[in-house]
Amino acid sequence: MPAHVAIIMDGNGRWAQRRGLERQAGHREGARRVRDIASACIDYGVRVLTIYAFSTENWDRPADEVSFLMDLIPERLEAERSMIFEQQVRIRVLGEIETLPLLDRVAVQDIVRQTDRHAALDLNIAFNYGGRAEIVRAVRNLIREGVRAEDVTEDIVSGAMYTAGQPDPDLLIRTGGDQRSSNFLVWQSTYTEFYFSSILWPDFTKEAFEAALADFGSRQRRFGRVPVTAPGAASDA
Ligand code: IPE
Ligand code: IPE
Ligand code: MG
Repeated sequence: MPAHVAIIMDGNGRWAQRRGLERQAGHREGARRVRDIASACIDYGVRVLTIYAFSTENWDRPADEVSFLMDLIPERLEAERSMIFEQQVRIRVLGEIETLPLLDRVAVQDIVRQTDRHAALDLNIAFNYGGRAEIVRAVRNLIREGVRAEDVTEDIVSGAMYTAGQPDPDLLIRTGGDQRSSNFLVWQSTYTEFYFSSILWPDFTKEAFEAALADFGSRQRRFGRVPVTAPGAASDA
């Protein structure tokens, strides 16, 4: 089982358009899927789930779509409040939430604070998130803290990321058929296994998620090493 699963929840707009609906309807439906996937993570012992909700590039979308997406996160968090508390989900935000409307921001900050001691699942919401922006922020913070050049290590940089203290993603799922990272978890995904699904995010069920987990289970991760052969399969004596 992966300890950390990251998901690029893509395809909301196409899902809606295929039904003759506004793109927003796809975002609303897509946001509802997160609950089932988070529950499945708890069932399977996945400790961290990171979902890509809004990228730094998504600002270039029409203003009404952007403002809809801004309101969607606090709205969903409120709707799932009892589930979050019952199932002990810890909410973290990756990204600059200072750009949220004030009331939305306060609502999000409140739930982050209130769930800080929950231990069943870390749900990282990447919101106004860009992988490069995250690295720039980390570098700036390290310089501000006065870290000396010779003291900068990979662990220090990892600790300056939004995901500080969490394992790197083992599995990254992208729905919607495209096969690219779109500026997601640039620093953290060096040895992540990628899984691409043509299913549009609002149609991505628990069963589809289980198929991704099963596929992950069949992979051999080598981390640059020589493949491990099964005992007795080959002899090097
Ligand atoms: C992903 O769905 C959600 C966000 C980027 C916020 P899209 O809105 O990108 O859906 P498509 O890719 O246009 O279908
Ligand atoms: C990636 O989807 C961002 C999110 C899912 C939030 P996009 O739809 O923005 O990615 P591109 O533009 O197809 O690369
Ligand atoms: Mg898209």
